[in-house]
Amino acid sequence: MGVLSEDLKDRIRAYLPKYPRKQAATLPALHLVHDEMRTVSDEALVEIAELLDLAPAEVKDTMTFYAFFKAEGEKLGRTRLWVCRGLACMLRGAYELIEHCEAKLGVQCGQTTPDGKISLEFAECIGACDGAPACLRNDAHVMNMTPEKADTLMEELKALAYRLGVGDRIHWPGLLTGPAKWGALKGAEAFILPSHQDSFGVAVGEALGCGTPALITDKVNIWREVKASGAGLVETDSVAGVGRMLSAYLTLGDTQQNAMRAASRACFAEYFDMQLTAAKTLEIFRELGKTGA
Ligand code: FES
Repeated sequence: MGVLSEDLKDRIRAYLPKYPRKQAATLPALHLVHDEMRTVSDEALVEIAELLDLAPAEVKDTMTFYAFFKAEGEKLGRTRLWVCRGLACMLRGAYELIEHCEAKLGVQCGQTTPDGKISLEFAECIGACDGAPACLRNDAHVMNMTPEKADTLMEELKALAYRLGVGDRIHWPGLLTGPAKWGALKGAEAFILPSHQDSFGVAVGEALGCGTPALITDKVNIWREVKASGAGLVETDSVAGVGRMLSAYLTLGDTQQNAMRAASRACFAEYFDMQLTAAKTLEIFRELGKTGA
């Protein structure tokens, strides 16, 4: 059985008579699948190709030309919230708005909230400059956005989480700083970061320094050190990979978890402690000085 429902296939087929060749319906088909499934998996690609009498590689070529589409292993939240940072929006507070949304949602642009409800992204001009700063909530423009309006939008999304029956299992602490951040890191059983991006090494290092194991994907730039030290678990950046990682962690007994906590502190001391790093750097300069390099 395929991944595309008959209804979805029918909607794709309905596009075919509108074009001289089936291939021309590739983009509409991708949009239909992406809108409904929040991703275009490899299997969906094959099924789209069958409907359009194309090779899967041809559909993939079209899809990967646009950064808009999420491919196998990536998935959008139910709501895709784009904050425009084009010139007009930038001049009218887009960056403050982005910071506000990141703090409120506890994710950075390019990420999805852990409950899978909201994907936050930035955009470069969404054609609503007269309403700057502007956002796109899925396909709908939200003009003259302010932090207050953004709060209202997020409250609506939280209400949606409750309507879906998962609201009481989600915490929305926003961006934690100072003692609240250190308390959360020290009190956490594990720091889980299924990131698609490589720029979160500092956050992982902070968790390790607190003796909190890191459960991360192999996109996070310090995954090798975490893996080599036994300071956590590392998996591929895919839904299946993250599922395997969480299952593996849940099978660990107290002894293994405690060993992982100890390894986390050791990993931090070996690779990320500032004094040690400064001493090593100084040593390198001394050696270079001796050789006259
Ligand atoms: S610059 Fe933001 S909508 Fe044009």
